[in-house]
Amino acid sequence: MNVSSTPPPELKGQGFLLRRPRDSDVDARLALGRDPEIYRMFGGDASFTRPYGQADAEAWLRHTIEHPAAWVIDRGGFIGEFRLDNINRHDRRASFTIGILDPNLLGKGLGTAVTKLVLSHAFGELALHRISLRVLAFNERAIASYRKCGFSVEGREREAALIDGEWHDDIMMGVLTHEFSSLTDMPQGK
Ligand SMILES: CC(C)(COP(=O)(O)OP(=O)(O)OC[C@H]1O[C@@H](n2cnc3c(N)ncnc32)[C@H](O)[C@@H]1OP(=O)(O)O)[C@@H](O)C(=O)NCCC(=O)NCCS
Repeated sequence: MNVSSTPPPELKGQGFLLRRPRDSDVDARLALGRDPEIYRMFGGDASFTRPYGQADAEAWLRHTIEHPAAWVIDRGGFIGEFRLDNINRHDRRASFTIGILDPNLLGKGLGTAVTKLVLSHAFGELALHRISLRVLAFNERAIASYRKCGFSVEGREREAALIDGEWHDDIMMGVLTHEFSSLTDMPQGK
């Protein structure tokens, strides 16, 4: 695996900014805590009720700062994060995870706008060819958002996650550079 040694650039969207994390994000991260619905979308159990504390928020910041391609989503302050993972320069592919951590901001088009902005960067400046992800099959909002960004379903891992004592499938999705560019005005890559 190759990872870029340069930190990811700031990316400006309409009404939001993707930027590197900073120390003052700890307070905002702490305030957002661990919303049960959002936590479940990441595979968390409802039985896990330990409150999200200062040490969790500080660990989150350290991990995010150390990550080679992580942005915080800033909409008048920290509200979520986006990570490009497993960047492979030879095969020009990566995977990603996104989390809007404020439940009041879900389902308002923000996640789709953020994902499209990072895909433009990944297929443009980073010259990647393919981006993939995995998502829990019950996370229909995320799947709808990813489809709007050009992703299609490539597979299904059956009973890949045990949540609250029940097995759930994971959906594997992917988008290629020419599929994304057909959604946008971006010049097509090879
Ligand atoms: C996944 C996520 C980034 C999507 O961003 P978002 O801003 O909430 O989604 P958007 O509003 O851009 O798009 C969601 C689409 O799903 C639809 N939708 C919303 N709720 C839905 C639901 N419960 N079931 C099915 N579709 C739903 C919306 O109508 C919208 O489509 P439309 O614009 O064509 O109407 C965001 O919901 C999130 O961070 N969720 C919590 C964490 C998470 O699930 N992360 C992903 C883990 S793989």
